[in-house]
Amino acid sequence: MRSHYVKNSPQILAASEYVEQEPFANRGKWRESLGIAPEAPLCLEIGCGKGRFLEEMARQEPEAGWIGLERISSVLCRAAQRMDAVAEDQAPHHLRLIRAEALQLGEIFANGEISRIYLNFSDPWPKVKHCKRRLTSDRFLPIYRRIMTPDGCLQLKTDSDDLFAFSLQSLAEDGWRIGVREDDLQASPYAGDNIMTEYEIFFTAQGKPIHLLRAFPPVSGT
Ligand SMILES: C[S@@+](CC[C@H](N)C(=O)[O-])C[C@H]1O[C@@H](n2cnc3c(N)ncnc32)[C@H](O)[C@@H]1O
Repeated sequence: MRSHYVKNSPQILAASEYVEQEPFANRGKWRESLGIAPEAPLCLEIGCGKGRFLEEMARQEPEAGWIGLERISSVLCRAAQRMDAVAEDQAPHHLRLIRAEALQLGEIFANGEISRIYLNFSDPWPKVKHCKRRLTSDRFLPIYRRIMTPDGCLQLKTDSDDLFAFSLQSLAEDGWRIGVREDDLQASPYAGDNIMTEYEIFFTAQGKPIHLLRAFPPVSGT
């Protein structure tokens, strides 16, 4: 599933109208920049990979803003090429891609700016010595809390039993409320409007059950 090196990825990223070249300059102004209403949801996928989920979600909810964050240029390139290939009359107008590391989110988004965060098939980092790199570790959750609206929602999908268990514990320790918890998404009430990611298609084809959780930030949000 790993993407291969893409030749000329800096040039491809620089040329795509979907790639935000100066994400830090938009801090606190993303709704305006995306051209969505002040009350419209602003949604962020962290580790967006090749962009299938984002493109489909933007089609399903065109009034919302959609941002994909990805730290690997060659992977983000694939997402940019995907969006660039969409016909003009179906183009997702309120969608941007950012090449950055999730630890930078607080410099890219103002406090309370993001309505929803999606963590789709985040790297499980199975070794205990790497557990801080998991996107639901205590290095990341306080950042998410700060940039999310008080009524925001974090959704996680994974095939990894260990990452799921770790995430449930880490979220609970950080004061998040777990609203939805499913151990087999396809057999759950959430299967109907589920948009599959690239990794999800791969794991589902192998017959692997997919875990789903939705969590809500602590009230104080500090
Ligand atoms: C296993 S892939 C899943 C891709 C996609 N979400 C899917 O479900 O098909 C995880 C992606 O998250 C990205 N990623 C991992 N840690 C990240 C971080 N700290 N900041 C930004 N992106 C990250 C990786 O580069 C990789 O492309």
